[in-house]
Amino acid sequence: MRPHSQYPFSLIIFSIILILITTARTEEPAAKSFLISCGSSTGGTDSNGRTWLPDSKYFTTPSSIDTKNSTAKQQDPSLPSQIPYMSARIFTSSSSTFRFPVSPNTRHYIRLHFYPSTYDSSLDPNNSYFSVDANGFTLLNNFSAYLTAKALAKAYFIKEYSLVPAESGKLSITFTPCSKRHGSYAFINGIEVIAIPDLFTQPPPLVSTHQSISVANSSLQTMIRLNVGGQYISPDRDSGGLSRTWYDDSPYLFAAALGVTAVADKNLTIQYYSDLPEYIAPKDVYATARTMGPDNRVNLNYNLSWVFQVDANFTYIVRLHFCELFFTRNNQRKFNIYVNNQTALEGADVYEWTQSKGAPIYQDFVTFVVDVPGVDDQELWVELHPAVKTKPQYYDAILNGLEIFKINDSSGNLAGKNPTPSKLLLDSEAKKGNKKHNNLAAIIATGLVLLVAALCLLVYLRKKRKGDRNETVLGNWLAIHDSPNTTTECGHHKSGAGCSISTQGLLCENFSMEEIKLATNNFDESKVIGVGGFGKVYKGVIRGVKEVAVKRSNPSSNQGINEFQNEIYMLSKLRHRHLVSLIGFCQEDGEMILIYDYMANGTLQQHLYKSNKPSLPWNQRLEICIGAARGLHYLHTGAKFTIIHRDVKTTNILLDESWVAKVSDFGLSKTGPNMNQTHVSTMVKGSFGYFDPEYFRRQQLTEKSDVYSFGVVLFEVLCGRQALDPTLPTEQVSLADWALMNLEKGSLEDIIDPHLQGKISIDCLKKFAEIAEKCLSDNGLERPSMGDVLWTLELALQLQKNADAGKLEEKKKEKANDDSCILFDDSNYFHNKIAMTTGR
Ligand SMILES: *[C@@H]1O[C@H](CO)[C@@H](O)[C@H](O)[C@H]1NC(C)=O
Ligand SMILES: *[C@@H]1O[C@H](CO)[C@@H](O)[C@H](O)[C@H]1NC(C)=O
Ligand SMILES: *[C@@H]1O[C@H](CO)[C@@H](O)[C@H](O)[C@H]1NC(C)=O
Ligand SMILES: *[C@@H]1O[C@H](CO)[C@@H](O)[C@H](O)[C@H]1NC(C)=O
Ligand SMILES: *[C@@H]1O[C@H](CO)[C@@H](O)[C@H](O)[C@H]1NC(C)=O
Ligand SMILES: *[C@@H]1O[C@H](CO)[C@@H](O)[C@H](O)[C@H]1NC(C)=O
Ligand SMILES: *[C@@H]1O[C@H](CO)[C@@H](O)[C@H](O)[C@H]1NC(C)=O
Ligand SMILES: *[C@@H]1O[C@H](CO)[C@@H](O)[C@H](O)[C@H]1NC(C)=O
Ligand SMILES: *[C@@H]1O[C@H](CO)[C@@H](O)[C@H](O)[C@H]1NC(C)=O
Repeated sequence: MRPHSQYPFSLIIFSIILILITTARTEEPAAKSFLISCGSSTGGTDSNGRTWLPDSKYFTTPSSIDTKNSTAKQQDPSLPSQIPYMSARIFTSSSSTFRFPVSPNTRHYIRLHFYPSTYDSSLDPNNSYFSVDANGFTLLNNFSAYLTAKALAKAYFIKEYSLVPAESGKLSITFTPCSKRHGSYAFINGIEVIAIPDLFTQPPPLVSTHQSISVANSSLQTMIRLNVGGQYISPDRDSGGLSRTWYDDSPYLFAAALGVTAVADKNLTIQYYSDLPEYIAPKDVYATARTMGPDNRVNLNYNLSWVFQVDANFTYIVRLHFCELFFTRNNQRKFNIYVNNQTALEGADVYEWTQSKGAPIYQDFVTFVVDVPGVDDQELWVELHPAVKTKPQYYDAILNGLEIFKINDSSGNLAGKNPTPSKLLLDSEAKKGNKKHNNLAAIIATGLVLLVAALCLLVYLRKKRKGDRNETVLGNWLAIHDSPNTTTECGHHKSGAGCSISTQGLLCENFSMEEIKLATNNFDESKVIGVGGFGKVYKGVIRGVKEVAVKRSNPSSNQGINEFQNEIYMLSKLRHRHLVSLIGFCQEDGEMILIYDYMANGTLQQHLYKSNKPSLPWNQRLEICIGAARGLHYLHTGAKFTIIHRDVKTTNILLDESWVAKVSDFGLSKTGPNMNQTHVSTMVKGSFGYFDPEYFRRQQLTEKSDVYSFGVVLFEVLCGRQALDPTLPTEQVSLADWALMNLEKGSLEDIIDPHLQGKISIDCLKKFAEIAEKCLSDNGLERPSMGDVLWTLELALQLQKNADAGKLEEKKKEKANDDSCILFDDSNYFHNKIAMTTGR
């Protein structure tokens, strides 16, 4: 489908160009480059080992009184090195120019380094407005480094431009303080000039024949450069000697839809095509990616989205870097690409393009960003969604790297307005910066939670005593719950008023839609903290004080009124330290909404592998498993009926602000067998990768199905990988099978989470693996009860603690004996080398 025939307005994607660069790889970038530390009389080396020279040789000014070299009064702790940020060249009145001799036929990167700080007590950093021109192009105008740094929430920043070749062989960069402001001045800390190959040669388009825009006579500004799903890549690790910086993409992801980060198998070599030069992007960019995740249902419900702040009235090139890391056939993973909410490409299939695993490729999209009056900073959206129409094997998408370049306008201008702070970036900075505050808040919150829990328990105990007599009220619920037919009718009511839920005998509150809308800012998309089969989960603040998770049903979801009522029924009756508390619900306007306690630390899965959160230590993982086991044990035995969870998995184990594990999502719960029945026969529900094989075969449900799923959870916690990873070789796809196979071969240690290598004592691991293995027994009767699982996990934790204590003791002893050589008995530890190095 051609975008411009479909969208005939100015916001249009002009061209889609699949680029396999045609330049020969031998065309290496010219070695000539300049690194100038401005205002410094000696120069020096930066944190990446690059040498910077003083600026005096390159710098001319009409009169020397207009300029000074100066040192910053304060060194911000985030500065990577003193060079080039701590010294600055300052211009107080007329324009001043830096001149560099450059080769006439090559493009150059110009990087301007700014550290807005106090350099001179007479100059206020917030009163510095200036323009920068280079060879006739306006790079910056009425520019405030102070406001820019504030908007980026950074102490220093770099502006990068790719300048058209200077035919004269001369490059001049001119700084002019803004004349309209009294006392305004210009400054610069560092300038890099680097000869680069042409990164925008025009190759024959492979995908479509759209008209393309020529960048040959234009200069570009790099807006963003991301190693998607990967880590920060410093200039010294860039390819082609271009010293680009590649950043982590997570601050730019929209809402909670983080997808999954993926890393190429160690065996896989990233192999550049013979005609794709390596300087396009380093291997590290292609070896990591972000995908949508293993769950087709979830993936259909969301877009993997990145949002960027850009300047209005400019044309942008969005360059997406791809590299298939897992699949080996066409149409296994096909997706659509949207740029600024327009379809940029349908049915993108990285394998189909390259016909090879590990082969990098990239694709450019061109979009014009219009000025929307009244909006300060325009946004540029990049979104990916499975191409459902083409019926791919997996509903998934992949992206490895992303760059956005701004093209100069017709008058050679690249300058935009000063930015205002981005909410997204500020949020992500605040999260990083406020850890300490959070700890204090967590302690207070824990206190409050315990207090509330104690009160709830009191209320519960009272109600329970009464509740036994209130059987009639609950009895209605049981009736609805046990015979689905009566409730399906209810589900078809438009208003939902016909079957509104009585709160009598329940411990939760019936909220009005108005209150819910207020709590979630009218279901603001940016408040989404999770997406599941049921619908979306929003973070909200109820009545302006209490943080809650609001689960809103998706009208088209399969999980209907039955589950909704099940959940209220179940949860309202159950109160336990290791179960997520239902606070209330809302059933208005035909919607079904559940309100839970907000769990500050999210799902267990997020802390195992699905994000870049720090890895949890082994003992904490054990404690979380023990908590979850306790919650399930309570479900199975603690209530009046046996309650089978039916969907035990790491995303249904949540963690509160003090890392207490809580089992959640009883939408699929069903009360278990009573005395004369040994199972509940029901439709197969649950999640792939966790299915009890027996349940799957016989469609019979017992609490031992939960035990099986919990066994999978235990291996997930141990191995730090997902239950089902279709991207792996066949024998590894199912974690349950893979773990059992390794256990049998005696090679379990090889597949445990690398973060845990050397940290688990032999005895603890043995117990842990033993119980996990039993949970996965094919025959339900052979599986332990949740009580046994709980007991064994507690034993495993004790064994670990003993080993830790023993190790510490021995280390102390050894240290006393011989301080220069630490040699402790490590027979208790796997991979003793790692244990020793971390121990020292
Ligand atoms: C500024 O330049 C002068 C002369 O070039 C030099 O003597 C002085 O040390 C420089 N000051 C700083 C802070 O680099
Ligand atoms: C600039 O900063 C100074 C203090 O450093 C402050 O007094 C002044 O109000 C600020 N001006 C503006 C426009 O923010
Ligand atoms: C670029 O500019 C040169 C000289 O100014 C001109 O000869 C050439 O045709 C231009 N190229 C494009 C693609 O516009
Ligand atoms: C990686 O290499 C090892 C040893 O060479 C081999 O056993 C294994 O199958 C390879 N894995 C993949 C995914 O190719
Ligand atoms: C964008 O262009 C329009 C029309 O030319 C103009 O009115 C508007 O001020 C421009 N916006 C910016 C941010 O320069
Ligand atoms: C994904 O993005 C496109 C373009 O913005 C939009 O049309 C579509 O509705 C989005 N899909 C979802 C599930 O959000
Ligand atoms: C694109 O869609 C998102 C919602 O998916 C919306 O918030 C955003 O404003 C849209 N952007 C543009 C440029 O229309
Ligand atoms: C960029 O500026 C140059 C020089 O002013 C001009 O020739 C070129 O057409 C501009 N590019 C675009 C895309 O307008
Ligand atoms: C310069 O930028 C400041 C801050 O963004 C703005 O308030 C001011 O209006 C701008 N001045 C001009 C002449 O554009």
